[in-house]
Amino acid sequence: MKIKTICCIGAGYVGGPTMAVVAQKCPNIKVTIVDINASRIAAWNDNDLNKLPVFEPGLDVVVKEARGRNLFFSTDIDKAIDEADMIFISVNTPTKTYGKGKGMAADLKYIELCARQIARVAKQDKIVVEKSTLPVRTASAIKNILENTGNGVRFQILSNPEFLAEGTAVEDLLKPDRVLIGGDNSEEGQKAINALVDVYANWVPNERILTTNVWSSELSKLTANAFLAQRVSSINAMSVICEKTGADINEVSKAIGMDSRIGSKFLKASVGFGGSCFQKDILNLVYIAKTYGLNEVADYWEQVILINDYQKNRFSDNIVSTLYNTVSGKKIAFFGWAFKKNTNDTRESAAIKVADNLLNEQAEIDVYDPKVNTERIYADLDYLNTRSSEQNRKLLKGQSSPYEAAKDSHAIAVLTEWDEFKTYDWQKIYDNMHKPAFVFDGRGILDIKLLEKIGFLCYKIGSGAKV
Ligand code: UDX
Ligand code: ADP
Repeated sequence: MKIKTICCIGAGYVGGPTMAVVAQKCPNIKVTIVDINASRIAAWNDNDLNKLPVFEPGLDVVVKEARGRNLFFSTDIDKAIDEADMIFISVNTPTKTYGKGKGMAADLKYIELCARQIARVAKQDKIVVEKSTLPVRTASAIKNILENTGNGVRFQILSNPEFLAEGTAVEDLLKPDRVLIGGDNSEEGQKAINALVDVYANWVPNERILTTNVWSSELSKLTANAFLAQRVSSINAMSVICEKTGADINEVSKAIGMDSRIGSKFLKASVGFGGSCFQKDILNLVYIAKTYGLNEVADYWEQVILINDYQKNRFSDNIVSTLYNTVSGKKIAFFGWAFKKNTNDTRESAAIKVADNLLNEQAEIDVYDPKVNTERIYADLDYLNTRSSEQNRKLLKGQSSPYEAAKDSHAIAVLTEWDEFKTYDWQKIYDNMHKPAFVFDGRGILDIKLLEKIGFLCYKIGSGAKV
């Protein structure tokens, strides 16, 4: 079976970039990305490519090439489903905030709505591909809905987890380490797998396309993210020991990373990992383990999250204790709000928790982030429900320049590793701050020696350079 028309439900951080690259690399396939969020679709269609809702280096070029040719963004979900041979589900699957599995299990209501919509609309056989990260065995739930509420149409369900990392999405999509496709062992299932393999084969070498059963594919995604997050928590746990002993975490990372069995990636100590996947996927894993009564396994993985929480809290605790045990009425400048550099995504960003802790201590915060707007920052804080939204707006301000954010502040906290932070005129920043002027580098990116020479008192995560 040759795929001619693809529909992707969900025009977010995963669906948008992924389908833009599919369209760019497969000019003979018509790709329509749909979303219930009309303003998001309008932004994807905006002539000004700076207004795309997702910021990713290189994405504008891909969208420019394919949009209007074979890449379309629309709110007409029914039409796109009806036309498509293959439907990707790429909607959000946040952690449940209510009921059974609250705070742990994935909330599948958006997925279920999609499945029901597909079942209602589809008049011909379709291949449905899960792209969102999902708990193991979700495919069978989707299958159930499709088969029992549909119009007698036959569906094949594939799992095709996305491994792109935000900030490098386009690069990751163009040159993936691997593409994973899980499907049914039946003849029909294998045909569906082959149809999707053919799509990727337009630009991905065959040896990088792996096919497995559905559940292996689903579980591999959770496992990959759990392993990556575990490395960050492991190095963060060591960063605390470094600070106590005078060792330097960057030196330790380098030393262990040169061991080819360990490898050098994901060994950067930080104020804590964020992003829409790590915490959610580990919580999913923990929930699955508990469901099967595997409490030891659940506890093992949960510890990765507990260290991450600890890392965020100890960063803000350190700011408070260093500023003479009170930050009340003091201004603290945040450099960075995004969960990592080169993205405008803030989901689960360490900055949110650090800000929340400091606002509880009545600090005033001025935030500068090159790509995150102030409305997003307020939405992140309001979502916590710790303070009224009026209080959040009173205590925290967004600034469009780092110099303005730092002006009259007592301390600067670096929460995201944006490259531009290294290029600032730090003397100028220092001159306009209260003295003593502090820098808390939660990403270990600044030249501490230089800052100390200027007069800053510095803390760098996992290093002996401590105030
Ligand atoms: C992750 C996976 O990498 C990706 O394969 C999956 O598809 C989705 O989840 P993402 O969340 O976009 O991607 O970013 P990633 O680069 O993995 O970083 C996650 C968090 O860990 C960020 O907050 C980052 O700053 C932090 N991190 C990463 C560290 O603190 N230290 C490191 O060494 C690496
Ligand atoms: P991800 O990082 O997984 O891509 P996002 O939140 O960025 O997550 O994107 C998910 C998108 O899915 C959102 O734009 C949301 O509006 C959209 N969405 C959620 N449910 C549906 C639905 N039933 N139909 C269409 N779009 C949906």
